[in-house]
Amino acid sequence: MSAEHPETNPTKLLVPLHVKYIQSLDTRKEDLEYWLTEHLRLNGIYWGLTALDLMNNVDALAKKDVIAYVRGLQHSNGGFGGHVDHDPHLIYTLSAIQILIIHDAINEIDVAKATEYIASKQQIDGSFCGDSWGEVDSRFSYIALSSLSLLGRLDAIDVDKAVEWILRCKNYDGGFGNQPGSESHAGQIFCCVAALAIADALHHVDIDLLSWWLCERQLKNGGLNGRPEKLEDVCYSWWVLSSLSILGRLHWIAKDKLIAFILSAQDPENGGISDRPGDMVDVFHTLFGVTGLSLLGYPGLKEVDPVYCLPKYVVQRLGLAQKYHI
Ligand code: FPP
Ligand code: ZN
Repeated sequence: MSAEHPETNPTKLLVPLHVKYIQSLDTRKEDLEYWLTEHLRLNGIYWGLTALDLMNNVDALAKKDVIAYVRGLQHSNGGFGGHVDHDPHLIYTLSAIQILIIHDAINEIDVAKATEYIASKQQIDGSFCGDSWGEVDSRFSYIALSSLSLLGRLDAIDVDKAVEWILRCKNYDGGFGNQPGSESHAGQIFCCVAALAIADALHHVDIDLLSWWLCERQLKNGGLNGRPEKLEDVCYSWWVLSSLSILGRLHWIAKDKLIAFILSAQDPENGGISDRPGDMVDVFHTLFGVTGLSLLGYPGLKEVDPVYCLPKYVVQRLGLAQKYHI
């Protein structure tokens, strides 16, 4: 980036370029990256579709094809794989549900079986495994609570036990880790705070202490990191801001500096947003750049729901928005 080429440091959101970039992802079959990320294909559709909807371009991916693809990934046990012939996992099951909810097409899948699959991952101590391999992580607690809430089936699990286990991940600094005793991490904080919001249990959070830790994630260049001493990264514009938004402390961040940082991580030639300026773009960071801008009130974007990471109108359609209170 040089002073002679100011256009290489964009100061506006390049919506048409990002739409083209997301549309092009499924046609890049000559790229090694396309094949290396096969296991993330379903997640990729969720990331891309949500970004498109927030940018008012939900129709840029063919709805009929997306629904048919998602339907084909449900296994007989009710869970979803990340691509054809891939094993089921909670993370892909959430993506499938989110995609279908955006398209108001949840009845295209076997909801009862999906519910059964998610509920089967709860352990005796209230935690959740992601799949049959048994790894436990607070990400999976969020995924289970979010997906069951979207399906209107929180009754299928022991929510009190789930909350009890999440609270065991809370640290002395007010944050949360991926398991009891693990260090605080902004990604995990989002998972725990959003899960507690869904369970109507935010009163267990030390709001000012945690919000202070979260707003300390902002660095001099405006970007946010995920833990002390780490580099800034556009995706933390989501993990940190969504948590602050749920806690009612979004105004503790220097908004304009963060907006400028996210915009500077755009690829001004081919579209997409990267983790930080100058790096290769990907659809994960493109979504979280756009969701971060949406939370910051960037003009022309739809509002995103900070708990479900879906356009707010979609969550409102289900009657779920703002049910949580601090
Ligand atoms: C950072 O990951 C992010 C997390 C640990 C949270 C991941 C949350 C989910 C998968 C739940 C679903 C989320 C949504 C929004 C629907 P990283 O591996 O990039 O962390 P690093 O920066 O430490 O490498
Ligand atoms: Zn990142």
